[in-house]
Amino acid sequence: MERKKVTIAELQQKKMAGEKITMMTAYDYPTGSLVDQAEIDTILVGDSLGMVMLGYDSTVPVTMDEMIHHCKAVSRGVHCSFIIGDMPFMSYQVSVEQAIENAGRFMKEGACDSVKLEGGSEMASVVKAIVTAGIPVCGHIGLTPQTATKLSGFKVQAKDAKSAQQLEKSAKDLEEAGAFMIVMECIPDLVAARITRELNIPTIGIGAGKDCDGQVLVYHDLVGLFERFTPKFVKQYINLSPQIKEALVQFKSDVEKGAFPGPEHIFTMKPEEAEKI
Ligand code: KIV
Repeated sequence: MERKKVTIAELQQKKMAGEKITMMTAYDYPTGSLVDQAEIDTILVGDSLGMVMLGYDSTVPVTMDEMIHHCKAVSRGVHCSFIIGDMPFMSYQVSVEQAIENAGRFMKEGACDSVKLEGGSEMASVVKAIVTAGIPVCGHIGLTPQTATKLSGFKVQAKDAKSAQQLEKSAKDLEEAGAFMIVMECIPDLVAARITRELNIPTIGIGAGKDCDGQVLVYHDLVGLFERFTPKFVKQYINLSPQIKEALVQFKSDVEKGAFPGPEHIFTMKPEEAEKI
């Protein structure tokens, strides 16, 4: 059967049926295409691209134009997975009007199916305004990397009862504001399980235990292409960096020894034509 574009209704049905939802980040055409071919439900063009693709120290410097550039590339390679564009720092905080305008760019220019933004109860009115404008919004609570400085670093959140209750309130406020899904990052598994039970919309965990409705990982972590650090919650399925480095070293050596290009890589002329030169 021909696979069709994943819809929000299907993601919701998966939650109801207790079927897990999959999400993977992608930042370019070939990766978008591979993730789509792997039939992963949703693709997040995450602002993590600032660190894993652009070499920034955090996601804070990422701009709207950078995000749109990468969303365009991903969406060209994707036919069925549901694409979520990640709104960068300060693209939705300054005013509701600017938030709607920037969310609109993800849909019109980036060819995304929805947007994601970080923040809890304090962002509910912005989420509501974007949803009212006709753009589906995915929330993101717990460790929110754009405001890691305010959280005093990349730390597990909601570790005590009071902050766990606040987080649950945030999740409920985002659901009420119209979010169709919520990413929960770096929180204790019990807190994530409780929020997942309490909400009608799906939750996607990253460092939030196994009881979320789905899981997301950063592609570069999964395939071993980001060497600066590996968070505890990452499962590396393949370690590509050493293999790619080895191939590059081999190429250099082959060129230097004259072993590349070989006869099979060379275009030749008919001898009678060669004689005329
Ligand atoms: O930017 C990103 O990749 C994310 C995930 C870590 C959820 O927000």
